[in-house]
Amino acid sequence: MKTFLIAALTADGFIAKNSDHSPLIWRSEADRRFFIGRTKEAGLVIMGLNTAKASKKPLPGRRNVIYAKSAEELPHWKEYGEWEVTQENPHDLLLRLEKDGHREAAICGGATIYTMFLEAGLIDTMYLSVEPWIFGQGIHLFQNPREQKLKLLSVRQEEETVFLEYSVLHS
Ligand SMILES: NC(=O)c1ccc[n+]([C@@H]2O[C@H](COP(=O)([O-])OP(=O)(O)OC[C@H]3O[C@@H](n4cnc5c(N)ncnc54)[C@H](OP(=O)(O)O)[C@@H]3O)[C@@H](O)[C@H]2O)c1
Repeated sequence: MKTFLIAALTADGFIAKNSDHSPLIWRSEADRRFFIGRTKEAGLVIMGLNTAKASKKPLPGRRNVIYAKSAEELPHWKEYGEWEVTQENPHDLLLRLEKDGHREAAICGGATIYTMFLEAGLIDTMYLSVEPWIFGQGIHLFQNPREQKLKLLSVRQEEETVFLEYSVLHS
């Protein structure tokens, strides 16, 4: 299973001001288009409970797998699709989803889930969209990750957003 992390970052490196701060409020239209297109291409999104709550409803046209203790914690939005809840370790989850026929997974945050997959060595590619904002404080992309080397694959600007693509060099 191929995986990619996808995140919008402020110029000072934050993904949110706090755990219920939705990126929908501050990320650009160009990034919104990129996020929708790339995650629909993957067909499978994996995220944590706080991110699911911040996005309010399942992302349409994609399988939504949420790290949470129970489905009761999530809002019910049957008309928009289903959330699936998991507590599996990332290796087991990806193996199970691969058996279901998925070939690519989008790791959609937040910091807890990005860190869990990165530390498990399960992120192949990182898409970072740098937005023209400074928050000063908030949630970083990762929570105390170990040092890792990346390879820059591409840089692109659209409107005021800079799109960076990295591969993670697994040692
Ligand atoms: N800028 C961006 O691109 C971007 C992308 C994604 C998210 N965000 C933002 O980041 C913030 C959320 O990040 P976050 O790190 O606070 O939260 P998160 O990663 O979305 O979710 C973390 C929560 O998921 C649950 N969880 C994690 N591992 C679990 C496991 N193994 N089993 C069961 N439940 C598990 C836990 O819930 P419990 O505490 O209930 O156990 C944990 O608190 C939000 O503001 C969101 O909008 C920004």
